[in-house]
Amino acid sequence: MAKARVAVLISGRGSNMAALVYAAKHPKCPYEVVLVAANDPDAPGLKLAHAEGIPVFAQSHKGMKRADFDALMTAQLKVVRTEYVALAGYMRLLSPSFVNDWRDRILNIHPSLLPKYKGLDTHERAIAAGDSASGCTVHVVTAELDDGPILGQTPVAILPDDTAETLADRILIAEHQLYSRVLAEYTSRERQPDWLLEQIRTRALALPEADETVSHGMPCFGIIKGKKFAYFTHDHHGDGKTAILVKISGLDEQAMLIEADADRYYRPAYFGDGWIGIRLDLGDNDWAGIADWLRKSWIAIAPPKLRQGFAIADEF
Ligand code: GAR
Repeated sequence: MAKARVAVLISGRGSNMAALVYAAKHPKCPYEVVLVAANDPDAPGLKLAHAEGIPVFAQSHKGMKRADFDALMTAQLKVVRTEYVALAGYMRLLSPSFVNDWRDRILNIHPSLLPKYKGLDTHERAIAAGDSASGCTVHVVTAELDDGPILGQTPVAILPDDTAETLADRILIAEHQLYSRVLAEYTSRERQPDWLLEQIRTRALALPEADETVSHGMPCFGIIKGKKFAYFTHDHHGDGKTAILVKISGLDEQAMLIEADADRYYRPAYFGDGWIGIRLDLGDNDWAGIADWLRKSWIAIAPPKLRQGFAIADEF
């Protein structure tokens, strides 16, 4: 299976970036580092990344508007077909448009047990508060600073004679182990059939009167006692694909979709011209778009009465 493509953003030393790079050398690591980018051309981590044969990009943010700088970053990330962004000591606030462009695909590591001690001087604050432990957190990045769903944490005991420096050094050891493990879990989750089915299930069953059954070994979604509007297929007849099949208008639409993106769309065997297969195992699923496909497919098979009610409700 193809590895998830990760870009790491740094501002300085880059020891977390190095930990991610070294972990990626394991043949079974589910991600690869395709770019290391910095907002400071003198960031020491860049030399290490370059020596490891990883493409690097550096551009000072000075004199640039935040949104312009972030747009430049996004453009660079896209050149190398980045799927996930790992912030590793990237000391820049991100613009809302950058966070939105990479929604659910940016991870950050922070040296505290969030939600405690967001922002800077985390170790000083933990010691001053008399905490018995601090630690580190990997979380999904949202518009709020050091917020967003927590994916993993490691507590680190605070010793009586700890200074901010000694505590930071020990927490850094924990960071290096935590980040690669969490990143590996997070990036491989989108390629796991169970997780993908759960995403489809949540969206399909949110449609009116939808239910789930099994047909020819495939989980499928239909209207209760009515027609089916989506099938979930995983390696059906050994085709190696994880995908959903949804209704479309016919042969023309099918041909158009396949021509537009032959990696993603395909003609499902045994289903005919009224269906399209949409691969879910490419690692870049647009879940809002997939919800839309399910909705259109539901509309295509729903009895007129149900459909009308849904269309009206949809306008509000
Ligand atoms: C790390 O301790 C990281 O958790 C922290 O900066 C350090 C970067 O070190 N990040 C933050 O404080 C983000 N809010 P590194 O460059 O050696 O990885």
